Amino acid sequence: MTRRAVVTGVGHYLPERVVPNSEFEATLDTTDEWIRARSGIERRHFAAEGETTSDLAANAARAALADAGVSAEDVDAIVLATSTADLTFPSAATMVQAAIGMTRGFAFDVQAVCAGFVYALSNASALIASGQADKVLVIGAETFSRIMDWTDRSTCVLFGDGAGALLLEAQTGEGTTDDRGILATDLNSDGRYKDLLYVDGGVSTQSTGYLRMQGNQVFRHAIEKLARTAETSLERAGLTNDDVDWIVPHQANIRIIQGTAKKMGLGMDKVIVTVQDHGNTSAASIPLALSVGKQRGQIKPGDLIVTEAIGGGLAWGSVVLRW
Ligand code: UT7
Repeated sequence: MTRRAVVTGVGHYLPERVVPNSEFEATLDTTDEWIRARSGIERRHFAAEGETTSDLAANAARAALADAGVSAEDVDAIVLATSTADLTFPSAATMVQAAIGMTRGFAFDVQAVCAGFVYALSNASALIASGQADKVLVIGAETFSRIMDWTDRSTCVLFGDGAGALLLEAQTGEGTTDDRGILATDLNSDGRYKDLLYVDGGVSTQSTGYLRMQGNQVFRHAIEKLARTAETSLERAGLTNDDVDWIVPHQANIRIIQGTAKKMGLGMDKVIVTVQDHGNTSAASIPLALSVGKQRGQIKPGDLIVTEAIGGGLAWGSVVLRW
């Protein structure tokens, strides 16, 4: 018998304002065609003035709790992946804790940029497996619009705001690959690549800063590292690529998503794609894709899912779970 972290609820929240690619044509030397062709992005959502990451996260958390039929008072922990917390401290997770009316347990943020959600899932799974928590809200939430340099066409057209959340609950499985829940994880980082994707400001430099990215260099690492981490997780679970029902990738670029699926020998009919509608929402992109994938009727109970992500650090990883 094995204690597993099983997804019992999923939800998401997107800010109201939708910005199509064409809006950038007025202020930048760019076109809708370039953005679609190079990234697959068609539109993204931007948070309203005063709307913060914890606001988005709390809405996604409420949706996940409603989906699970679980009350906030019964949640033991919140693990929130974000690089754009409302304040330097306290954590955005504690703000969500207060907002949803959870008065016990514990809450903390995880910062692994675009890989944040797989890091958060892996940590939440470990909390459940070790018996420290029975019900954990795992959230990815970002307001990357706040760290865009609106004069840099190579970055500001790529990112968006949003939040997604899963409720994980402890369940006892047989210890086989047929069990529902998180079956294996794989986390990696290599700080030698820290200059490929970073924000040129922070508390210790007394500024907020803007996102800076050598996009084509990140691209060069992405497909190989993502395919390898997915295969490592599957191997740890005792599974292979052929067992996968859905790849739910970090949604940064359709060409990375296609290249990774191809390298894994899987068709695009096995991939949940939302990048066209959300842009790159960093740590929020995987839970958003899981939530939308379920809403579309693609993801069904019992499906074998592999999620994978890479971003600033570089940090990358994957999680294999049975829905
Ligand atoms: O989520 C975290 C991880 N991040 C990623 O996974 C992002 C990975 N990288 C990418 O998605 C792609 O590299 C980009 C979409 C960022 C760029 O696509 P690319 O095919 O790698 O293009 P590039 O950076 O090599 O640039 C090609 C050209 C350049 O012009 P020159 O130097 O060839 O004359 C850029 O200046 O495209 C130009 N360019 C643009 N042109 C029109 C860059 N941005 C734009 C733009 N509109 N918005």
